[in-house]
Order: sequence, then structure tokens, then C-alpha cells
Amino acid sequence: MTKTLKVLFLAAEATPFVKIGGLADVAGALPRALRALSEEDTGGVKLDVRLAIPLHMVIRTEAATLRPVASFSLMRSGSELNAQVFETNSGDMPVYFIAGEPITNSASVYSSNSALDGEKYTFFSLAALEMIKHLDWEPDIIHANDWHTSLVSYALQIKHWDAEMQDTKSLLTVHNLPFLGPDIMGRLASYGLPLSATDLPKWAHAKPLPLGLWASKKNVAVSPTYADEMLTKEFGAGLEDFFASHKNSLTGIINGIDSESYDPEKDSAISTNYSAETLEERSWNKAALQKSTNLDIDSSIPLFGIVSRMTGQKGIDLALSALSRLRQESWQAVILGTGDSVIEKQAKRLEKLFPDRVKVEIRYDDKLARKIYAGSDMFLMPSLYEPCGLSQMVAMRYGCIPIARATGGLKDTIKNGETGFLFENANTKSLLKAMREALQVYKNNNHWKSMQRNAMAEDFSWGNSAKQYAALYKSL
Ligand code: GLC
Repeated sequence: MTKTLKVLFLAAEATPFVKIGGLADVAGALPRALRALSEEDTGGVKLDVRLAIPLHMVIRTEAATLRPVASFSLMRSGSELNAQVFETNSGDMPVYFIAGEPITNSASVYSSNSALDGEKYTFFSLAALEMIKHLDWEPDIIHANDWHTSLVSYALQIKHWDAEMQDTKSLLTVHNLPFLGPDIMGRLASYGLPLSATDLPKWAHAKPLPLGLWASKKNVAVSPTYADEMLTKEFGAGLEDFFASHKNSLTGIINGIDSESYDPEKDSAISTNYSAETLEERSWNKAALQKSTNLDIDSSIPLFGIVSRMTGQKGIDLALSALSRLRQESWQAVILGTGDSVIEKQAKRLEKLFPDRVKVEIRYDDKLARKIYAGSDMFLMPSLYEPCGLSQMVAMRYGCIPIARATGGLKDTIKNGETGFLFENANTKSLLKAMREALQVYKNNNHWKSMQRNAMAEDFSWGNSAKQYAALYKSL
């Protein structure tokens, strides 16, 4: 009889329920990809992976599809704090939503008030563990993601949930290292969790991500290059020495993308479907994008696209300043994203400067994003650091050539000169050089088309990465 390995996957956000960034894409897709693996893929086990996320205020689910499955209390500062668990399905996968006062107290997924977030995710993590006692299903492995759910590993390690979960192992995936989470010394105390002596640096010893990294059997970075970078001062967020002495527990597995949803042949959000074989058809999408953004409809003008969270990490300011220095050449740009208001304003300023070349849309818009992937020629991604990055992979799948910084997952997914253009230094000069090179190649239609075909031929689906995670689960 086949053995079933049960995995509880925990995250702060997951598509299709709630999405702020790439974490949601991963949490929405990876658990399902793991469930879809055959026994041949996993070496003879069946993976029963289930997802749990907070029932954020912003989640709008039809009441009818949420079934209450558990209600219990946690002790906090000597009084009982109620938690409820609701279940729904995403495809054939059970998904648990955890509700309770610390979750409803905060209006957004992530708050600028770190005390609110500290309380919310401490509660979520501990309630997720407690939930297991009330379900008719006990996981062998808990897979935590980022600081929000790291405490689960910590609580397991210090045997806070001793008797019931002695054999439960934990694994932590790091999607964005610099976000270590707020100091939660007070939170831990209020829920009765002792603060262990660890080999973490003093300043990090009460922050959730470091505690989780210390406690987990395996830590996974979302790309092999980022796993290496985490050992350096530039990218290690102050934990580089800690990683160096825990090298064996750290590994890198590249994310995939949902290549069924992101398929230029089937995507219903774009004006004309196409594939590598019918690449000529792609130009209808460029024309449609130019039309809908009020840019000149002209297939010969190179069109840059940006789809990004507007945060410092993404190097948007570099892209904006590079574009503003390209006055002599002819180009257009469509920029979509939301986030930091300073960066949003900078983008709007570029639009004012080049009203007939630049269109900036400050919002989250999945449909427009897809139109940009399908309609622009080049995709700008000058990230200062990039644990994995998903949009460069989506862009390549749509034949939109990325121009990206050679860092983290960008370096692992883009082949310089074959499927995209990579540049080394996080400055405008270095980026401009790569953009000029791309513009040069763009003028040679055959060369450009062959790069597009190379890019579209890459396999970024979840299958391979899911197999690597499955192997890791087994090794635990
Ligand atoms: C974070 C990282 C990004 C990664 C995503 C999913 O958003 O910044 O690089 O692709 O998580 O792992």
C-alpha cells in the first residue's frame, strides 16, 4: 500500500483568495502541484498537502462555501481567546481559514502597524498548530512560509505542543529575507511561549523569521542563487554568519509559475492568442495595448513593460531614470503597479515628462498585467535583490524579453543573450547599457524572434520544483 505524506502548508496569502505579492502565487500553486505529483514523481508516496491561511477581512468568500470545522481557544495573558476554523476547497485541495480577534483587528493583510501584525501572525501560527488537534487529520510535516508563519517551526521545536506532535517536522521557505518580522518578545510571553537560547545574533533573537530559521529542519530559499546570496553581507540581512554555520539546513528551490493560467495560447484576457509557432499574431496584442493606453499604434516602436509591486526592492527608480535618459531613441513604456507612494509619484512624473511615450497605471490589475506581458517587447526588472521573481518567467512565456539584474532567481531563470538580457550593477548606467543592447538586437527582426522563441520554449511550470520539494519532504 502506498504511504501518504500529509503536509500542512501555511502562508499569509494565497491565490485565488487573497494576493499582495508573489507569495500568494506560490501558496496558491505549489500545494496543488505537489498534490498532482504521481507516485513515480515522488518515489512512491502520495502527498496530501493542505493549505491554511488567515481569514483576512479583505477575503470575500461566499458564506455558503465556508464550512465551520473547529472552534477552540488559546490562552493569552490568562484569558481565553477564541479561534474558529472554516474549510473550503481549491480544486480538490482542502483549504483552512483561521479566524479570531487578532485577525479581524487588522483591516489589511499586512499592516504598517507592526504591533498589529506581530499579534495577528503570532495568533495565526499558534492557532494553526492548535487546529490540528481538532481536525481529523494530522500532518507529518508543516511547511511554513516567510516570517508570518515561522513561529510554527519555533513552537514545534521547543516542544510547546509536546505530546501530540512529537513526530511532526517543519520546513520553512524564505521568499523575502529582509522581512524578518517585528520583535515579538511580548507576544511570545503573552501566549506562554518561552524564549529559547539560540545561536541567533542578539538583535534577532525575538524576531519570528530568525526563530523559524533556527528551529526548522530545512530552510529553503526560492532560488539556488538566492540561497548562496543569503550567505553574503549584501543579501544576508545581518544573518549571513548564522547561515554560514547552518549551511547544511539551507537549500534553494526555484519557484514555478502557473503555466496553465499563464498561457498565451489560451489566455482569455489578451486580445489575440498566439504561440511560438504563430508569433506573428503576437503583434495584435501590441497594437491593442498601444490603443488602450493611448500610445501611437506602431509595431516598429519598441515597447517596454513593467508589472511590479512599487517597492524599493524592485529598482523601479532605476528603470525610470534609465528611460528618462533614453531621449534620443524611440520607445514607449507601459508601467503597472502599486505600493510605495514615493515610487508611484516618480512613475507619474515620468509619464508627465513623456506624455506621448509613457503610460502609468497605479493599481493591481491582473488583466492589464497579462496584456502587458503579451503586448510589450521588453520587460524591465532591475531588482536590487530578487529571491525568485515570477514576472520575468511569465514575461518569457509570453515572448516578452526580460531586461533584468543578474541577481537571485533572475540569474537562475534568464539566459543572458538567449532568453533575455542581464546586467550586473544596480545602477542606471549598467541598466542603460543592457537596454541599449536590447534595442540594438530588436532592430534585427530574425534575431529578436529567435530570442522570443527561446524564451517561450523554457519550461517554468511547477512540476520540477514540486518534485524537489517532495524529495525534501521525504528526507525529513
Ligand atoms: C517574494 C520575493 C520574490 C518571489 C516571491 C515568491 O515576493 O520578493 O522574489 O518570487 O516572494 O517566492
